[in-house]
Amino acid sequence: MIGGLFKQLLPALGRYIWYHTTRVFHRKEAEEPTSLATPSSIQCLSNEVGLDPAYERLVQWPTYRKNIPAEDVLSDALYQLWTTTRHGHKWTHYFEVYQAVFGPRRAEPMRILEIGVLEGSSLRLWKQYFSHPETVVVGIDIQPRCIKFDAPADGIRVRIGSQADGTFL
Ligand SMILES: C[S@@+](CC[C@H](N)C(=O)[O-])C[C@H]1O[C@@H](n2cnc3c(N)ncnc32)[C@H](O)[C@@H]1O
Repeated sequence: MIGGLFKQLLPALGRYIWYHTTRVFHRKEAEEPTSLATPSSIQCLSNEVGLDPAYERLVQWPTYRKNIPAEDVLSDALYQLWTTTRHGHKWTHYFEVYQAVFGPRRAEPMRILEIGVLEGSSLRLWKQYFSHPETVVVGIDIQPRCIKFDAPADGIRVRIGSQADGTFL
């Protein structure tokens, strides 16, 4: 009986050692994006929908959720505001991009369209962050209940409809 057990155990042990040894030698760290060149498909899309080229940037997200943002993001005004904003849904790695794209334009009068309102947290965040009094933040959502976040006096507008509906957009 003990002989039979060994017969089963030995190959399993062999596979275990083989698996872990080869893992050590073949281990690959997550690759950093090598090029941030904008692919032609994105350029075509920008031309088609008239996006401001100043905002054009290829972003490759890490595939995992980074709970602690990069050091310079921790002290960033937008991230700081977000940590005091109730509800809402944002992955921490968004903030590096927000900082790079929105930071330099923070004081300009902006017309912002956010697709996806949910609890309106993000709309309030943008309105606080973009400090120019003429800035208008517009949110769209397919959920009719989101209309309650429409607040014209605060420079926040909400419309109900889908991003997939070109006429609505
Ligand atoms: C992750 S939540 C948005 C969170 C919000 N931006 C924030 O940070 O607080 C996604 C929202 O997108 C809305 N949504 C889903 N499909 C949509 C579509 N086709 N058009 C517009 N909004 C959509 C959902 O109803 C949901 O409220």
